[in-house]
Amino acid sequence: MNTKIAIIGAGPCGLAQLRAFKSAEEAGTDVPEIVCFEKQDNWGGLWNYSWRTGLDRHGEIAHSSMYRYLWSNGPKECLEFADYYFEEHFDYPIASYPPREVLFDYIQGRVIKANVREKIRFSTAVRNVEFSEESDTFTVTAHNLTDDQSYTEEFDYVVVATGHFSTPNVPNYEGFSHFNGRILHAHDFRDALEFEGQDLLVIGSSYSAEDIGSQCYKYGAKSITSSYRTAPMDFKWPDNWEEKPALIKVDGNTAHFADGSSKDVDAIILCTGYLHHFPFLPDSLRLKTNNILYPLGLYKGVVWEKNPKLLYLGMQDQWYTFNMFDAQAWYARDLILGRIELPSFEEMQSHTKEWHELETAQGEAAYAIDFQGEYTQMLIDETDYPNFDIKGVNRTFMDWKHNKKDDIMGFRDKSHASLMTGTQSPPHHTSWLEALDDSLEAYLKQEK
Ligand SMILES: Cc1cc2nc3c(=O)[nH]c(=O)nc-3n(C[C@H](O)[C@H](O)[C@H](O)COP(=O)(O)OP(=O)(O)OC[C@H]3O[C@@H](n4cnc5c(N)ncnc54)[C@H](O)[C@@H]3O)c2cc1C
Ligand SMILES: NC(=O)c1ccc[n+]([C@@H]2O[C@H](COP(=O)([O-])OP(=O)(O)OC[C@H]3O[C@@H](n4cnc5c(N)ncnc54)[C@H](OP(=O)(O)O)[C@@H]3O)[C@@H](O)[C@H]2O)c1
Repeated sequence: MNTKIAIIGAGPCGLAQLRAFKSAEEAGTDVPEIVCFEKQDNWGGLWNYSWRTGLDRHGEIAHSSMYRYLWSNGPKECLEFADYYFEEHFDYPIASYPPREVLFDYIQGRVIKANVREKIRFSTAVRNVEFSEESDTFTVTAHNLTDDQSYTEEFDYVVVATGHFSTPNVPNYEGFSHFNGRILHAHDFRDALEFEGQDLLVIGSSYSAEDIGSQCYKYGAKSITSSYRTAPMDFKWPDNWEEKPALIKVDGNTAHFADGSSKDVDAIILCTGYLHHFPFLPDSLRLKTNNILYPLGLYKGVVWEKNPKLLYLGMQDQWYTFNMFDAQAWYARDLILGRIELPSFEEMQSHTKEWHELETAQGEAAYAIDFQGEYTQMLIDETDYPNFDIKGVNRTFMDWKHNKKDDIMGFRDKSHASLMTGTQSPPHHTSWLEALDDSLEAYLKQEK
């Protein structure tokens, strides 16, 4: 097979794509030539933690938005790979909410086993992608950051797996330029201990606000004030955590809110989400969307309708993660292998529109979770990715939601059963609030 594929990014999505082709190859399929470009010097995407913020050592924008002491915010049972179980990786059952390093180890385990590292060109940033109607190929311009050399290469397909939780959405508020403290976006947050003893303001009411506020509470912030634009998070917060409506302005160190109240704060963390950002793509190939479950323009959430040789992975808002990325990667693989036929452009568009409209038909979390589960199932049904208990995953997500409502600082102490093996996870040896060491060694200790 002479087909040549470029995968951009070696995070969970790019790695899922490599794994998908490997499993076809192991089953005797002749697979295309693959080059995976990764601008960092290791794989894992966001899970590849770096202390760096701003620029990396090559002057590239630092990719990772993860921070020290980050633990999984959802049950690991909901993201488990259907072809590589936690028990296979760790040899014994582990608790349900592992810290970042443990999940990084799990992600790596599968691709080490698949032996795909040689396909990745590390420290190589993709700068530009162009499509030629004439040759029916893409020209990819890549920059080898180690040698400081740029070059171009031709590909038949391009898979964009560059993530969308890395380029911060940074609003401005009146008075920010004269605030006498630190203002940062969640993307640049690294260590909660920096805010020990401080009065902290977090802006936003989604996962980053909840988790960064909780981290800072855990590691000794004096008080947390969180400010919502649309709706409060409405958990049972500790006594030193207060929820306020929208921030109006800051005056010196005093933050003023829409209800007329105010609060003196030492630092402000903007947990205001991220932008889909693809500076290497021209308008004709670039996905333009906010963070939703079913963006327009992508058939089955994967195929760029205007040019089906361009594929995107993981561009949705995410309840489901690793196993949904797999379902997408298997689908993309089978499309490239000619095992899946696409309908006409108009049919693709109307299918996407239908799903896009279904997304917003109801607002509750249960609906959104079921919706993404159904989407994942739709892809699995078209490939040989192992079927798994999607309804069970949806139920586990709902248990998790209820546990959070009951005890926002204690939900990570709960355990869930694997939807792949049925094994009930053991409780962790230390409650999350007391577990200050998030290393792999500390987490796995005593769990055998
Ligand atoms: C703070 C935070 C915590 C999270 N916690 C969880 C969690 O607990 N559980 C969960 O399931 N999900 C979590 N997520 C969701 C996360 O999006 C996914 O787990 C996953 O990392 C997405 O994988 P990805 O491959 O799409 O993107 P990424 O992980 O972002 O990987 C993209 C890769 O592309 C590379 N890249 C980007 N641009 C270029 C370029 N031009 N050239 C070459 N390479 C490039 C990057 O260096 C990176 O390695 C979290 C997200 C954030 C921001
Ligand atoms: N421990 C963990 O595992 C962990 C920790 C953090 C994040 N994450 C993951 O990271 C991803 C991103 O989460 P996120 O919370 O960063 O982003 P997000 O889910 O997109 O939420 C963005 C938040 O910012 C608010 N916002 C946006 N613009 C604003 C503005 N101009 N003023 C005020 N508020 C504004 C939004 O409010 P509206 O509701 O009004 O739009 C929303 O509350 C998720 O997948 C999440 O699971 C995981």
